[in-house]
Amino acid sequence: MKVTVVGAGAVGASCAEYIAIKNFASEVVLLDIKEGYAEGKAMDLMQCASLNGFDTKLTGVTNDYSKTAGSDIAVITSGIPRKPGMTREELIGINAGIVKSVSASLIEHSPNVILIVVSNPMDTMTYLVHKTTNLPKHKIIGMGGALDSARFKYRLAQALEAPISDVDGMVIGGHSDKGMVPLTSHATRNSIRVSEFLTAERLQQVAEDTKVGGATLTKLLGTSAWYAPGAAVSGLVQAIACDQKKIFPCSTYLEGEYGLEDICIGVPVVLGKDGIEAIVDVPLSDAEKAKMKESAEGVTKTNGLLEL
Ligand code: LAC
Repeated sequence: MKVTVVGAGAVGASCAEYIAIKNFASEVVLLDIKEGYAEGKAMDLMQCASLNGFDTKLTGVTNDYSKTAGSDIAVITSGIPRKPGMTREELIGINAGIVKSVSASLIEHSPNVILIVVSNPMDTMTYLVHKTTNLPKHKIIGMGGALDSARFKYRLAQALEAPISDVDGMVIGGHSDKGMVPLTSHATRNSIRVSEFLTAERLQQVAEDTKVGGATLTKLLGTSAWYAPGAAVSGLVQAIACDQKKIFPCSTYLEGEYGLEDICIGVPVVLGKDGIEAIVDVPLSDAEKAKMKESAEGVTKTNGLLEL
């Protein structure tokens, strides 16, 4: 199993680190445009191998896509991250050009690759890859919902004063401060609906804190987060590499599912060796349906800024 991670910045390096530590991939190639940077990160990570007990071989390359040839899965993290006060949508101009050329170069050397898009605005970048490459839709996966759901579970566990392992919940919709749709009605604490433990107001607060999860960290860190994004990506990569058939909310191209068409947006999917193997239809309340529709309108508006 060969995995390429494009972009050796904080998110890309954290993603490569988690993939290596989980020890399921034989090879990870880290690629960056900055001379020597990916080589340095890969060497530093390889020097953790005996300490952390993994056998994954990490190599770094400067912009040489021939070294990524034969990748089964590739992750695109390249582009600029947001600064405090910026929305993900404001990154579109620079990141669209980067994502378009990176995806083309990856596919040129690995025609059977499954692509995971992380660069922001993520849903629009996933749509861009769908529109500008010939990859089938099940091989184009946007990472947002897995991260947003992890942040939702963190906030739920805090509110419930319960261990996170007892909490389950999912965030669908666009990966944006306004567009996320935390499914509070489906969230559970050890199979019991969280509404049995928390007031509607407290649940509303959990949902609001979840939606600004990335912005909260950007304000604290001065740039966007990397540990949880890296861990979320590694979870998707592992589900595909190990054919786990796990359900994660991911951005995928919809053709009528959830009443939406010609859009990439977060919905629950089954991930296995073929990438997205099924889209899972979750019954939504009327309020959740309305939020999903509004979220899709936001993503479509951002998609309109693309020069396709
Ligand atoms: C975040 C970025 C990765 O939400 O979009 O932290």
